Amino acid sequence: MNLYESLVKYSMDGYYPMHMPGHKRNTMWNHMVNPYGIDITEIEGFDNLHHAESILYEGMERAARLYGAGHTAYLINGSTVGLLAGISACTNKGDKVLVARNSHKAVYNAIYLNELKPVYIYPQKDGEFGINCGLNPSLIEDLLIKNQDAKLIIITSPTYEGIISDVSAISAIAHRYGVPLLVDEAHGAHFGFHKDFPRNAIKCGADIVIHSLHKTLPSFTQTALIHVNGTLVNYDNVKRYLSIYQSSSPSYLLMSSIEQCISLLETKGEELFDSYHKQLRSFYDKMNGLSKIKVLNPYQNTRFYGIDPSKITISVKGTDMTGVRLYERLLEQYKIQMELVSMDYVLGMTSICDTKEGFQRLEEALFAIDNEVTIVYEAKQDDTKPNDTKQNDIKPDDTKPDATQLDDITADFILPEIKLSSYEAIHRPFERILFSEGNGRISAEYVYLYPPGIPILVPGELINHRFIAQINEYKENGLSVQGTEDIEANYIKVVK
Ligand SMILES: Cc1ncc(COP(=O)(O)O)c(C=O)c1O
Repeated sequence: MNLYESLVKYSMDGYYPMHMPGHKRNTMWNHMVNPYGIDITEIEGFDNLHHAESILYEGMERAARLYGAGHTAYLINGSTVGLLAGISACTNKGDKVLVARNSHKAVYNAIYLNELKPVYIYPQKDGEFGINCGLNPSLIEDLLIKNQDAKLIIITSPTYEGIISDVSAISAIAHRYGVPLLVDEAHGAHFGFHKDFPRNAIKCGADIVIHSLHKTLPSFTQTALIHVNGTLVNYDNVKRYLSIYQSSSPSYLLMSSIEQCISLLETKGEELFDSYHKQLRSFYDKMNGLSKIKVLNPYQNTRFYGIDPSKITISVKGTDMTGVRLYERLLEQYKIQMELVSMDYVLGMTSICDTKEGFQRLEEALFAIDNEVTIVYEAKQDDTKPNDTKQNDIKPDDTKPDATQLDDITADFILPEIKLSSYEAIHRPFERILFSEGNGRISAEYVYLYPPGIPILVPGELINHRFIAQINEYKENGLSVQGTEDIEANYIKVVK
């Protein structure tokens, strides 16, 4: 079967999508004629994305009004291109930037392209679910005081798991120091349309905000938006980089999908988000009845700044089941395809296009699995597993982060020792060695789990025992370790 045949077969096989794209293959809210019939290029009357002055310009203005932004541009290569363009537009070669360590790889690629000097902002880790928390605004202020030459602050809110940072406080701090704030809100394009969902980062004062429409709203894969606000960022610069990084033949199918999505939000947004919110409420209420499996409940949140209810984080931490096993059970037995799997949890993505039946299927599956698992130890908020090798394997001088970065972090994050910039490390002569023999060598490659695509190791950083132990643990647990040229991730390129 070729790709097209496989896609058609899959669409009829009865799998329920607890993953992106946000249209959920639900044709109730998404109609389209045969796509070949409307696939055109920049012909008379259809404007030009890189020189927009009519139909596309008006569409982008409408999107800006809907989100409350000064300027909005369509992206047809996802938030990835928005991050590349936004970061390039705000920096000169070699500039210093404050950047959340849990950023998507596109942020690291932008750092590489402009040879930027990153000063990392570390989120705390939540022991109970094993996920990253939001960023601490006062930590960002401390870093700004120590790095007055920083040209941009780059953060991700919400995280993949839906954890929100206090963007209003962070943007107020950034602006006190005259530094623009870029928020990767790729997973939050649906924010701001209902009182029980978080406010969007534009309304919270961020200067650049990037939204993947395709992740959480009904719009085709690859569609996204970049919004620019205020006077700290030059929008012409952003547009210049967009015309460098985006195709000169942007797809009208993708752009019309963006327009349809914006129209739906304008005309039916309130109604759709209201019934979606009720559906989510009822789901989370039922999840309180689970006894061993834990679902992160955004409505009973006491320790995070905020949680997006659209993301469903299901943890088996402390039980005799692994995240991978839960993921497989949901897929094989219940035909539910989840978005992401990690060591101890799986993640589902929902949207206004989910059906009642979809939620019901997940509820029934989780209750049935909950009956079968056994508690092995109690997973606590500030805990890692007992006898956790990651903790025990550290040699005292294995990690020597910049002291400015050490404030207010938990011991569970692997702090890198940066030896070279990513640009230098990638362009130096290299050799390929076994991962297991990497201790003390400088990486020339990224290493990350995909999804979420957040680098665990960045080119230029020193490989240590703790890192090697973590990668082994991921691989033993069947997680997808990527980034290295060696597809099996047994070998890694290191600087010679
Ligand atoms: C936090 C975050 N930012 C950016 C991206 C890139 O988005 P896109 O797939 O729209 O290019 C992703 C993709 O998963 C992401 O998780």
